[in-house]
Parts: sequence; structure tokens; C-alpha cells
Amino acid sequence: MAVTAVVGAQWGDEGKGRVVDWLGQRADMVIRFQGGDNAGHTVINDFGLFKLHMVPSGIFNPDTVCIVGTGCVVNPEGLLIELGEVEAAGVTTDNLWLSSRAHVVMPYHPQLDGLQERARAEAQQIGTTKRGIGPAYTDKAARRGVRLGDLLRPAWLRERLTLAVAYANSRFAEYNEPLVDLEVMMTTCAGWADQIGHRIVDTVPLVRAAISADQRVLLEGQLGVMRDLDWGIYPYVTSSNPTAAYAAAGAGLPPSAITSVIGVVKAYSTSVGGGPFPCELHDAAGQRLRDIGLEYGATTGRPRRCGWFDGVAIGYAAWLNGFTGLAVTKLDVLDTFNEILVCTAYKLDGEIIHHLPDTPDQERCEPVYEAWPGWNEPTIDARRWDDLPKAARSFLHRISELAGVPIDFISVGPERDRLVVMDHAFNASAPEAS
Ligand code: GDP
Ligand code: IMO
Ligand code: MG
Repeated sequence: MAVTAVVGAQWGDEGKGRVVDWLGQRADMVIRFQGGDNAGHTVINDFGLFKLHMVPSGIFNPDTVCIVGTGCVVNPEGLLIELGEVEAAGVTTDNLWLSSRAHVVMPYHPQLDGLQERARAEAQQIGTTKRGIGPAYTDKAARRGVRLGDLLRPAWLRERLTLAVAYANSRFAEYNEPLVDLEVMMTTCAGWADQIGHRIVDTVPLVRAAISADQRVLLEGQLGVMRDLDWGIYPYVTSSNPTAAYAAAGAGLPPSAITSVIGVVKAYSTSVGGGPFPCELHDAAGQRLRDIGLEYGATTGRPRRCGWFDGVAIGYAAWLNGFTGLAVTKLDVLDTFNEILVCTAYKLDGEIIHHLPDTPDQERCEPVYEAWPGWNEPTIDARRWDDLPKAARSFLHRISELAGVPIDFISVGPERDRLVVMDHAFNASAPEAS
């Protein structure tokens, strides 16, 4: 049995979509376990270039069952657009199922997201994707949420929506905004039921059958540990848990079923949105990382904040997620740098620390760097460890050491096959090749 969780080890956008797309070729099932269409998972393969928001990155394999898990919040409007785009590229989506227990992002959630963000003082803005993620999870936690399964039960839906719309309207009244009409929402939901109703199922039997049959299952996370609701840079976080511990709950399987956890990590750091980011560069090197790495948000198009690799943050991520292997991405972006810095500690109020402090202290942390020589040659054609320049291998060794985790995969380009697969990868932590 191989159940592999693939999660972001940094601030998001590490290349999870790219890694799941590759691993997905060998998977029987791929389950997105949390988040919503705030995700932007870029996949480049024979079908084209895709920025997947809600659809699991295993969709390109018709024999792979893809599930949007219970831990997700789903905007049916956005999902329908995304399905249209994927299908237009010749990809079948008949293999996509949606958990009836996943919550619905209603049209008023993105609206509330925008209003709440605007109401925050500028310095306190989270920089959300304005996809309504926070308000949808808020309704879930407050037990007034609408779930996908409710779309299939009109009488029950009316009860649920009455509660949810009343609350939304209490907020809109505070903001002096037009109120939401319950009947309009009922009609909208009826339209969604017609269009996606056939995909909404109890996913437990599907997942149970896959696990019982020893199938190869991937659990696809969204965002990264530094934006985790509990363990990230609160309050500059998302409203769900991207860490591997939540993969079991969000996907609907026992924690003991997970056999490996792959941490996807860029060879440098990026972050989009507010909050502390100790390694952020405001100089020419930062701009070069952004230019070469094309560091612009896949969902919002915002320029990503860029910096050197953060060895303190990776140690924290490795502990919390229990990584069994790393997938290091975007190594090729560093190909033309003469010198590459790695943060190995922080300086906080004059003291050197090796742990990640909580948000207010993190704001005052300064990175302590060590310098590594660049390799000044292209890595894009490397497919085996020995193909990589010696200096690149030394740099990767250091990343692995700081994480305390072996490297299973090294990505040297955004396209599916631009990947170095370590010989041990399929023994230790990834689904077996078919
Ligand atoms: P995700 O949200 O974790 O799936 O990551 P995103 O798709 O938001 O951001 C990763 C970006 O890096 C995308 O534009 C990918 O196409 C690109 N990418 C992924 N891996 C590599 C790589 O190894 N090299 C380069 N140059 N680009 C990569
Ligand atoms: P993927 O899956 C990068 C950031 C936002 C904001 C914070 C909360 O592509 O890695 P939210 O809309 O979730 O309430 O915003 O999290 N954020 C992301 N940053 N990649 C993402 O997804 C993100 N999803 C949310 O910028 O700071
Ligand atoms: Mg992304």
C-alpha cells in the first residue's frame, strides 16, 4: 500500500501541482484534501499549460480517480469554468468526484472576503486571494455552512441557506452593502445541482475501497505550512490546514494509512500576501529570482516576494509534517547565480536562534546566511543525480541536511519530465512505478 501526502513546505507555490502531475501518472487516486480555489497549481504536460485551482492535479490520467475531499471548500461557479478549460484541452473529467461533505463557497463569500480585507488597517491586511476562503471556512466552523450534498436536497438546502443568508446579510448591513436574496441563492444552487450534482458523492466508500485494495493514493495539499491556520504566521494565514496531519482528515482516511509525506520545497523562498518573511530580498538578487523564476501568483497574478532558501523554516516544516522525502523544485532558476545564499539561523534581538519563533517575533528576525558557490551551467537536462553539477549537488546536500530529510526528486524545469528522480525515491517514499 502506498498513500503519499504531497504538501507545501514553505509559503505556498512550491510546485505542488507540478509534482502531483508527475506522480499522478502512477497513481490510482488523487485527493485534494483542503483549501479552495485560492490554490493555483501550475501543470505543464502534453495537454498544455494549466493553472488548476480546485481540480486535483491527477486529472490528466483518465484511469486515476480524482476527488475533491471533505476538507475543501468548493466554489461551483469557478469549478465549472475550470472544468470547461480542462475539457477544452481534450482531458476527460469523468473521473472527478466531489465530496458531499465539502463546503460550498457561496457568491457572498468572496464579497465578504473583499469587504473584511478592506476593513483591516493596511499593515494588518492578510492579502487574501479574495476567493471567499476565510468566510466559507468561518461559516463551516460556525455550523451555518452549506455543503455540496445539500445542493441535492432542496428542502434541507432551504433550511441551511436561510441560516447562512441571514448571517451574511447581517454582515452586509454593517457594511451598508446590498443584501442577498434567499430565492436567488436557491435558484443558483438549483443550477449548480443540475451541472455538478452527478459528481457529488459520499467519497468514503471510494477511498476505503482504494485503501483496501492497496491502491496508490496521492493526497494533494494546497498552500504551505507557513500559511497553516494553526502553525503558520497567524493571522497572515489561510483558514485551513495545509500540513500533512490534516491530509487524513480532509481526505477521509485514517492517519495510519499514510505511508509517506513528500515536502515540496523551492530551492529559494517566495511568498505572496502579507506577514513576516525573514529572508525577503529587496535588492537586485530578489528581482532576479522573480524575473528568472517568473514569480507571479498563479491565482492573483501578484508579484511574489522572493528571497534565499530558509533553512530554519524547512526544519520547522519537516518537524510538523514528518516528511519522508523532499521534492526540491526550481533548481534551474539558480543556474546563473555566482553565489547562492542559504539562511541557517535567525538573529532575534541580538541573539542567534535556530528555531522559528511566532509571528510578532518573526517580524524582527534577521537571516544569518552562509554562501555557496553557484554552478553557472544549465541543469534543465539533468535526469539523474550524477547529471547535476558538483556545486548544485553540494547545495542540495545542504538543503537535505537542514531539513533532516532525504531528497527524492529535483525539478529542473516546469514541464512534466524535467525531473531528476533519485534512485531511492520509489523504495522509500513514493508510489511504486507501474
Ligand atoms: P503550486 O501552487 O505549489 O502548485 O505552485 P505554482 O504553480 O503556484 O508555482 C510554481 C511555479 O513554478 C509555476 O509557474 C510552475 O510552472 C513553475 N515551476 C515548477 N517547477 C519548476 C522548476 O523546476 N523550474 C522552473 N523554472 N519552474 C518550475
Ligand atoms: P497554492 O496552493 C500562495 C495566501 C494569500 C494570503 C493568505 C490567505 O497555489 O500554493 P486566502 O485567500 O487563503 O484567505 O489567503 O494565503 N495564499 C496563497 N499564497 N499560494 C497559494 O496557493 C495561496 N492561497 C492563499 O496570499 O496571504
Ligand atoms: Mg500556486
